[in-house]
Amino acid sequence: MSKHRIAVLPGDGIGPEVMKEALRVLESVAGKQGFEVVTDEYLVGGAALDASGNTTPLPTETLQGCEDSQAILFGSVGGPKWEDLPPDIQPERGALLPLRKHFGLFANLRPGVCHAALKDASPVKNSLIPEGFDVLCVRELTGGIYFGTPKERREENGEEVAIDTMVYRRSEIERIAHVAFQAAKGRRGKLCSVDKANVLQNSRLWREVVVEVSREYPDVELSHLYVDNAAMQLIRYAPDYDVIVTGNLFGDILSDEMAMISGSLGMLPSASLGSPSEGGCNFGLYEPSGGSAPDIAGQGIANPIAQVLSLAMLLRYSLAEEAAAVSIECAVEKSIEDGFRTGDIFSGAAGEKLVNTSEMGQAILDRL
Ligand code: IPM
Ligand code: MG
Repeated sequence: MSKHRIAVLPGDGIGPEVMKEALRVLESVAGKQGFEVVTDEYLVGGAALDASGNTTPLPTETLQGCEDSQAILFGSVGGPKWEDLPPDIQPERGALLPLRKHFGLFANLRPGVCHAALKDASPVKNSLIPEGFDVLCVRELTGGIYFGTPKERREENGEEVAIDTMVYRRSEIERIAHVAFQAAKGRRGKLCSVDKANVLQNSRLWREVVVEVSREYPDVELSHLYVDNAAMQLIRYAPDYDVIVTGNLFGDILSDEMAMISGSLGMLPSASLGSPSEGGCNFGLYEPSGGSAPDIAGQGIANPIAQVLSLAMLLRYSLAEEAAAVSIECAVEKSIEDGFRTGDIFSGAAGEKLVNTSEMGQAILDRL
């Protein structure tokens, strides 16, 4: 029996509540599929700040625990309680960004899926998404303006100036382009690269390199959009898109837009991956696309589906347990078909059953 080890970082807000459901699903699916997963839980974000007297949102034991694991299942971090701390130790900047950088998690996969059955939850008109949509956003995650230097505040001629630098190296663009082309190959064979090549130098390099890499993938149809236009086109007709590849900042923005038009942030998982090891398996961090939702935390009403689907991605990409991943995805699909709805996706239509977090978890468990 294969034995895996993962680090579990529930974090803040709704993180612990939805994580509980994901862990129930994990235990059941592992039993059914005949493998074992050791889960070690660590503090992160505001929870770690509270426990450390506001010294760090990413304690050494947490980082060490992640290093000793095959993957990280992450909940969410942040909340009003920690917003006034110095930026470097705030939960988001002080925990998430260092984790991404430390483990070289350059490829962020964010599926934006609107199930046909949930299109009423989308703010986009039904006529524009007759069958829902399924777009995969591949976001570069360890470069660009998030990490480029200089990144500082200084004084120039007696005036305060703040500087961030957008840098992309050829090698960084090449490796994310390969991830995106591979993904498109396994899907509907269409890739749209998003940049701002009409203004930015690094976007011009981005486009050149993506075109070069495309020669290795003659069966994938490549197109390009400037980011402002992409923001429009996604709303105009999302079903036209299959895979989108873009830099760190543009991907941050477009993936939120996609999440919004898909109906609920509570549905969307994400995977942040590094380079595959020799066995073909990736270390990765898996987290819901939505945040810690402090407004509904502690009430037991959050949608656990994003966390459960993040677990499915973890099983697929980091543990190579494809059958378990598929079984979870099917169980989620079936729960939706059978009418189970947490508040965020409840429209009141006939056949829908309004449920809380653990009831949704149970519905998924019952359908594994
Ligand atoms: C995301 C988030 C993060 C980002 C923040 C919390 C630093 O918005 O994962 O999209 O900007 O990458
Ligand atoms: Mg974001």
